[in-house]
Amino acid sequence: MGIVIGVVNQKGGVGKTTTAVNVAAGLGAMGKKVLIVDFDPQGNATTGFGIKKKYLEATTYEVIMGEKRPQEAIIPTRYKNVKILPATSQLCEAELQLADVEQRNHQLRKVILQVKDDYDIVIIDCLPSLGILAINALIAVDRIIVPMVCEPFALEGLAQLMQTVKKVKRTSNKDLKFMGIVFTMVDKRLLASNEIMRDIRKSFESDLVFQTVIPRNVRVTEAQSVGEPIIYYDKNSKGGDAYERLAKEIWAKCREMEKKNG
Ligand SMILES: Nc1ncnc2c1ncn2[C@@H]1O[C@H](COP(=O)(O)OP(=O)(O)OP(=O)(O)O)[C@@H](O)[C@H]1O
Ligand SMILES: [Mg+2]
Repeated sequence: MGIVIGVVNQKGGVGKTTTAVNVAAGLGAMGKKVLIVDFDPQGNATTGFGIKKKYLEATTYEVIMGEKRPQEAIIPTRYKNVKILPATSQLCEAELQLADVEQRNHQLRKVILQVKDDYDIVIIDCLPSLGILAINALIAVDRIIVPMVCEPFALEGLAQLMQTVKKVKRTSNKDLKFMGIVFTMVDKRLLASNEIMRDIRKSFESDLVFQTVIPRNVRVTEAQSVGEPIIYYDKNSKGGDAYERLAKEIWAKCREMEKKNG
């Protein structure tokens, strides 16, 4: 049974896509069957896997609007065990068009249910918003991972996200759970960010913050600019090593979850 994980944070530029892409590649390299769903009109996860958007025959947009089956849009990536449901800027239109659809918030869930058992893990890269697409994602997933940059306003955004998660859990997805916060783009030389990390670790149960911390590392950006996950671009870089460890930590949490569910 596939486990569905959303990478969410309504704050922009915190490393959601970088985390989704590199964890997907890491899990694939570990032998897990992975589907990554690009659920952001920016289509960065699609580009991050080196996919040229102009050649796509179907994308998340058609699938979410019920015009195509997910199997028609999912394509392999060049990387081991990873397939992708790609996105382009057309996904913007879904945000408006879904407003007139009765089951508007459940569209992605319906799509995911059709495919999730073909994979060990499905990772959804979300857009930076808490609008209709983001709500669709929260209703579709079992667990959320929240990448976070240690900046002074990080906690304010987190409070807002937690409120939305609570509401979705109460009304539409009772099994939704928080898997953890992952600190991204960390520069350990910055005392302020060390303090913020410490405060967040104190205010959350320890198993809700990932042990692995992702350092700021230029190799990660370089890898993205050539459309390669970091473990294929430079496995031995600090970023490559960190994302490999994060993928292992996530898989361990998935295993725990399976055990609990029997
Ligand atoms: N560990 C890292 N080291 C250096 N640069 C990084 C790292 N992680 C992410 N970046 C860079 O930070 C920028 C934002 O990252 P990313 O696109 O993953 O964030 P995002 O949360 O998905 O953004 P958006 O909200 O726009 O979707 C990108 O330019 C990316 O290359
Ligand atoms: Mg992104």
